[in-house]
Amino acid sequence: MRMRYLAPFVLSTFFFAACGGSDNSSEKKDTAASSSNEAPADNSMVKAGAAEAAASKGAELISKSDCLTCHKVDMKVVGPAYKEVAAKYEANDANIEMLASKIIAGGSGHWGEVPMQAHPNVSKEDATEMVKYILSLK
Ligand code: HEC
Repeated sequence: MRMRYLAPFVLSTFFFAACGGSDNSSEKKDTAASSSNEAPADNSMVKAGAAEAAASKGAELISKSDCLTCHKVDMKVVGPAYKEVAAKYEANDANIEMLASKIIAGGSGHWGEVPMQAHPNVSKEDATEMVKYILSLK
């Protein structure tokens, strides 16, 4: 459970560090000439928030669907732990596409005897967001 919140946090820290680095160097140059060095810092806050929102979209979709009855982030329940799924598949387009189709159509035989039921009400777009989130849990 904790990882659901940790993953976006780690992502946004990353983002922050990247932005912070470049802001600092331009700030140093600007400080003597102007005192507007607050502006770049505010920008990076906005961007970090946006990155967090994107990363947690899949998590939110998962929490609204029935997935969590059978899956936990770091523990096998009926289905495999999401971290195990993330460890098994590289996060490339082909795998994301394949796993998103499996969520919709159902799947079996990859993790044991128990099949995953189909989710015909989940759109391809939503399933893709879910898979992107799951595969980010490495
Ligand atoms: C009724 C229990 C159940 C529910 C509900 C469920 N799953 Fe699963 N899930 C499973 C089982 C069991 C497997 C393993 C299937 C297999 O062995 O191929 C699985 C496998 C998976 C896999 C890996 C597929 C593969 O081929 O490796 C993903 C990704 C996944 N589920 C995501 C989801 C998402 C997202 C949802 C919610 C929309 C969801 N599951 C809902 C039981 C469930």
